[in-house]
Amino acid sequence: MANIKTLAEFITERQHEFTYATGELTQLLTSFRLAGKMVNREVNKAGLAEDILGAQGSENVQGEQQQKLDVYANDLFIRLLRSQGEVCAVASEENEEIVHFNNGGKYVVTMDPLDGSSNIDVNVSIGTIFSIYRRISEGETATMEDFMQSGTAQVAAGYIIYGSSTMLVYTTGHGVNGFTLDPSIGTFCLSHANMTTPEEGNIYSVNEGNYFDFSEGVRNYIDDCKRQNMSGRYIGSLVADFHRNLLKGGIYMYPATKKSPNGKLRLLYEANTLAMIVEQAGGMATDGTTRILDLKPTELHQRCPLYIGSKGMVEKAMKS
Ligand code: AHG
Ligand code: MN
Ligand code: MN
Repeated sequence: MANIKTLAEFITERQHEFTYATGELTQLLTSFRLAGKMVNREVNKAGLAEDILGAQGSENVQGEQQQKLDVYANDLFIRLLRSQGEVCAVASEENEEIVHFNNGGKYVVTMDPLDGSSNIDVNVSIGTIFSIYRRISEGETATMEDFMQSGTAQVAAGYIIYGSSTMLVYTTGHGVNGFTLDPSIGTFCLSHANMTTPEEGNIYSVNEGNYFDFSEGVRNYIDDCKRQNMSGRYIGSLVADFHRNLLKGGIYMYPATKKSPNGKLRLLYEANTLAMIVEQAGGMATDGTTRILDLKPTELHQRCPLYIGSKGMVEKAMKS
């Protein structure tokens, strides 16, 4: 039988890979590890708990309906990050402005606390996406400059998927590792060591309801996937679609549409995070022309088109 390694043990063991002070990364990841378990607990009873299921009745900065679980997860991650002290500010999908902690922390976090929230009420996989950056500004509080760093500056990137099992997957730039939550003991255990994604795949994931709003090039690429009898798979939770394709090989696309010339997904807490992970796993992520990690952010909630997954497929999509 294989050895069991917990996420906590793994983080401690790999501390030397982290350029900055020993212990800081452990602290940082502990917040996500803990919050992930707590969100998981709520997700699992979402169908029962009236205070969790359904709409909050408010809208977020994108003008989208906030789900109760969105708000719950956002508050929880922020509370844990604030109390742990390494992070001085957070940019979240659910907060229009930067949330400051004023605690002298050396890191800033970007996050999508609940991704795929339209799937909560229908018992379909959802997730959490997070990135950690080293603060670059000086002075009392973090500034926009800290959040406008390109994706190449991420010191860690990860996601949690609340699926048929719950997993936490992360990278610090030294490969990608995945941990599955054993609910009987409440512990994430290493289940997917050194994850790599196939160079080529057989899955294309895109919301084809937007087909006639896509550019001719994108339509041609989709047509070509069909001609090759590839499998069309689209859950509508980025984390879940990405995770499946990472393991099996495939491409996830959220192209520009006539309505949304910059696509739908957000650069700081969706595209950049998953781009770092996919590159670390041997895959590729672009906005159709430029590497996602090289884009220079100008706004907290900036959107960008996204083509992400197996290298061969993303390269081909870019040429279409
Ligand atoms: P969120 O729930 O954080 O707002 O993200 C939803 C995103 C992403 O998870 C998913 O891939 C995409 O929206 C689905 O959009 P469509 O419904 O337009 O396909
Ligand atoms: Mn999202
Ligand atoms: Mn979200």
